[in-house]
Amino acid sequence: MKTLQLTMSALLSAVIFAAGVSAKPGTEPRNEMYEKKFPKQYNSWKATAESEEIVDALEGDPNLVILWAGYGFAKDYNKARGHMYAVTDLRETLRTGAPKTAEDGPMPMACWSCKSPDVPRYIEENGEKAYFTGKWAKGGSEIVNTIGCGDCHDKGSPKLRISRPYADRAFEAIDMPFAKASRKDKQTMVCSQCHVEYYFEKTADKKGFVKFPWDGGTTVEAMEAYYDALQFADWTHGLSKAPMLKAQHPGFETWRDGIHGKNNVSCTDCHMPRVTDENGKKYTDHKVGNPFDQFEFTCARCHDQSKEMLEGVMQARHDAVTEIKLKAEKQLVAAHFEAAAAWKAGATDVEMKDILTLIRHSQWRWDYAIASHGVSAHAPDEALRILGTAVSKAADARVKLAHLLASKGQAGPVKLPDISTKAKAQAALGMDMKKMNADKQEFLKTTVKEWDKKAAAREAKMK
Ligand code: HEC
Ligand code: HEC
Ligand code: HEC
Ligand code: HEC
Repeated sequence: MKTLQLTMSALLSAVIFAAGVSAKPGTEPRNEMYEKKFPKQYNSWKATAESEEIVDALEGDPNLVILWAGYGFAKDYNKARGHMYAVTDLRETLRTGAPKTAEDGPMPMACWSCKSPDVPRYIEENGEKAYFTGKWAKGGSEIVNTIGCGDCHDKGSPKLRISRPYADRAFEAIDMPFAKASRKDKQTMVCSQCHVEYYFEKTADKKGFVKFPWDGGTTVEAMEAYYDALQFADWTHGLSKAPMLKAQHPGFETWRDGIHGKNNVSCTDCHMPRVTDENGKKYTDHKVGNPFDQFEFTCARCHDQSKEMLEGVMQARHDAVTEIKLKAEKQLVAAHFEAAAAWKAGATDVEMKDILTLIRHSQWRWDYAIASHGVSAHAPDEALRILGTAVSKAADARVKLAHLLASKGQAGPVKLPDISTKAKAQAALGMDMKKMNADKQEFLKTTVKEWDKKAAAREAKMK
């Protein structure tokens, strides 16, 4: 009976659609164009703006500055907030720098990829190669609408879609082609265009393209082996000189390994539930956020326990993951400084090779386990297992470092600088934060204003 009702309402919305904006190929990136036709979905989508708080992750945990030394994340890293802020936050982060021209760095075009329905629009109009070529600033006046309807839906239709060709290829690689996927799988896959691990390709024909490293599987070990085989590194660590990997946000991959993923409870079952409006009509709540805010329509659909009880369980898991995470960080921070001391004491590449590999693998595992933020809710057992291997690999590196340092006549512990705050940790690395912040403010006042003007003129000509 329940299934029948759902099917009827789906049919009905298809009929309503057919009467209005007909489903066309291409992308309508301007989210506000959907407001009149789909007010409930539009307004709940817009309400993601309510999650506006900016939480400075580096301030909360200055270890991160050291772990990402020599890489953009050491400059600035805030926790995720509502989808409504995706473009704003990318413009404002120090990581994207203060480019003055379309050719200025530091970031490549690929950095826009999970922020906007203008990405599929641009790819459809110009091709993937043109999209992925050039610096981030090239896209400034093109990629302007935040994550919205066109990212997950066909133009003018409630039909779900994968809007990025590179995501389509990745799902093919794990034998999960979207065209053949079940409704449940599709609900998860639309999110997993973005909430995944990815890297930027270096091959000549696909230079700068986003790729998900899933060819050998989606576990932490499979992706580590994939990157090792390619000898891929996101950056060279500023202290230890280890060839590092930066995990992005492997939410899909960790969800798959958790109890809900294994039972195919979709991302939207918890984050975008079907709710009932004041007239008793069902619709999908597009305010992607904390599932406990809609408890009655999320967890309580499947569980009898109280909200307080389940929140308590989630909090305890969060605390357990945080405890081991901090232990891994402590070992890794020390390992980076000790490796720097070893180089200074005259260690050779050959002597350092295995040590740097241990550091690389340890930090990759630590990052993979926590970078998807929700991991303690999605897959707490897997997170703790992975963090355990991170602690052990960092400890192995430190034992080898202690021997190596002793062989160079440097017995005793390596002294670490004061990294008790973000500012102190950044100062310990010699970073000029004052200049970076001033350049960013100037960039927002000048270049970004120009981008918005150009974008408005371009959009005014769109049909
Ligand atoms: C992050 C992905 C995502 C975004 C962004 C998104 N949707 Fe949806 N939308 C979904 C999912 C998932 C469903 C439910 C599909 C199902 O029931 O299997 C859905 C369902 C719908 C439906 C069908 C009726 C219903 O309520 O279930 C409409 C209409 C719709 N969305 C409109 C919109 C509009 C308009 C926007 C932009 C303001 C938008 N969506 C943005 C993922 C998205
Ligand atoms: C086009 C890429 C994209 C898609 C599709 C997408 N997300 Fe996101 N999501 C992001 C980005 C980027 C952020 C961080 C935004 C910020 O902090 O400015 C984010 C943030 C979030 C947050 C944090 C929200 C908060 O208020 O703290 C949650 C939860 C989330 N996404 C879940 C989902 C789910 C579930 C889906 C599928 C229904 C989904 N996302 C689809 C890119 C995407
Ligand atoms: C669509 C159904 C569904 C929804 C929605 C759902 N769950 Fe579950 N949950 C399951 C299934 C299936 C299992 C596997 C165990 C079982 O068969 O009971 C499970 C297991 C669990 C367990 C015990 C397993 C473990 O992890 O140790 C907890 C705790 C849990 N869910 C919490 C939650 C919370 C909190 C929410 C909301 C944020 C939620 N669930 C939403 C279906 C659901
Ligand atoms: C069983 C319910 C459930 C499922 C299924 C689920 N999540 Fe979550 N997710 C949660 C809970 C609970 C949290 C913690 C909420 C919080 O503290 O804000 C969370 C947190 C997150 C966060 C971090 C939010 C933040 O502000 O840091 C993201 C991103 C996210 N989930 C994305 C996803 C994606 C993508 C999927 C599917 C691949 C998914 N979730 C599947 C329950 C679920």
